[in-house]
Amino acid sequence: MDDSNGQAQEQDARFPDGFRFETRSIHAGQEPDPETGALMTPIHANSTYKQDAPGDHRGYEYSRTGNPTRTDLEENLASLENAAHGRAFASGMASINTVLNLLEAGDHVVTGNDVYGGTHRIFTQVYEDYDLEFSFVDMTDLDAIADAFREETELLWLETPTNPLMSIVDIEGAAEIAHEHDALCAIDNTFATPYLQRPLDLGADVVSHSLTKYLGGHSDVVGGALLTNDENLDERFGFYQNAVGATPGPFESFLVLRGTKTLPVRMDRHCENARAIAEWLQDHPEVERVYYPGLESHPGHEIARQQMDDFGGMLSFELDASLEETSEVVSNTEVFTLAESLGGVESLIEQPAPMTHAAIPREERLEAGLTDGLIRVSVGVEHVDDLIADLEGAIDAVLG
Ligand SMILES: Cc1ncc(COP(=O)(O)O)c(C=O)c1O
Repeated sequence: MDDSNGQAQEQDARFPDGFRFETRSIHAGQEPDPETGALMTPIHANSTYKQDAPGDHRGYEYSRTGNPTRTDLEENLASLENAAHGRAFASGMASINTVLNLLEAGDHVVTGNDVYGGTHRIFTQVYEDYDLEFSFVDMTDLDAIADAFREETELLWLETPTNPLMSIVDIEGAAEIAHEHDALCAIDNTFATPYLQRPLDLGADVVSHSLTKYLGGHSDVVGGALLTNDENLDERFGFYQNAVGATPGPFESFLVLRGTKTLPVRMDRHCENARAIAEWLQDHPEVERVYYPGLESHPGHEIARQQMDDFGGMLSFELDASLEETSEVVSNTEVFTLAESLGGVESLIEQPAPMTHAAIPREERLEAGLTDGLIRVSVGVEHVDDLIADLEGAIDAVLG
């Protein structure tokens, strides 16, 4: 698939303004300051803006409505997702909430049975109370998606790869089904990032991000974003930014802008390290199964190869071990930090059963393949030999 940066040369036509992803990640939305020549976007720590006469201003009135640092971030993110429009939010959840703001009581949403827990929570514990209905289906099965649609279905919401089993959903196929039913197709692209996967090019209407993860990249900021090519949708997202007010401050916007500059180099290393660890785990006698879409044994490998430029930095594996033994393994690493979240430069490890997926009843959890021995890792950009030695030491100390 590759040239030196992990992307196919024949795909360069997807860069409408002629610059490649690596160039746009550094420059899109960011001009040197015309007055001072300062290269970096200033942190416009500012709430209100001078008007020369009532209504006569330079594009900004109040920072909830718009802030120049945020504008630069929104333009940068839109460029990376090949989107005409971008809107930044205070968190990934705030961007998901904004898509749900589009719906009305009585509307129905089709979504995955393994979406991020916070997404499941806002669907069932917030919006069901506003009379929205949700169907949770196996998104790897296009027939199951189609069967779940009803007259009132207005939105198809999906993630790919999913968490924690790294299932792959056929974006093009899913978007087609949504459009046959005049519904919107929104994709949470947090795990893949636009460097590896651009859902709008594959037919999706909206891309949602938790900027907290790979786009920020350094575990030091919380943020969200929505990207679209549809001007009407963008206007509505802008309305909700202002009306609801869940917007990022200028400092957060600056941090994410700093993060996106190195997204391509970080993602290359995340992918390289994850692949090496997945291959090593595959041969480990205590490991029952490895979930990484880059492995040919992964059921979604072929679709992932078609719709992604590489396979990402997230993987899960199942130990032949009890809940307690597995808890001991994840507590025993030195380089991997036991923590939830993902996408930072540092490697994280977690056990879904008592941590990220603890809210799911045990029987239901086991049925979904989330066993007691399951471990999820967010592979960082440290030296891969240290990462493998760390996992080996932790597994051997408990199961060896
Ligand atoms: C796939 C996915 N989407 C959305 C979110 C929510 O993002 P945030 O924590 O920035 O609100 C998360 C957080 O873990 C996530 O993993």
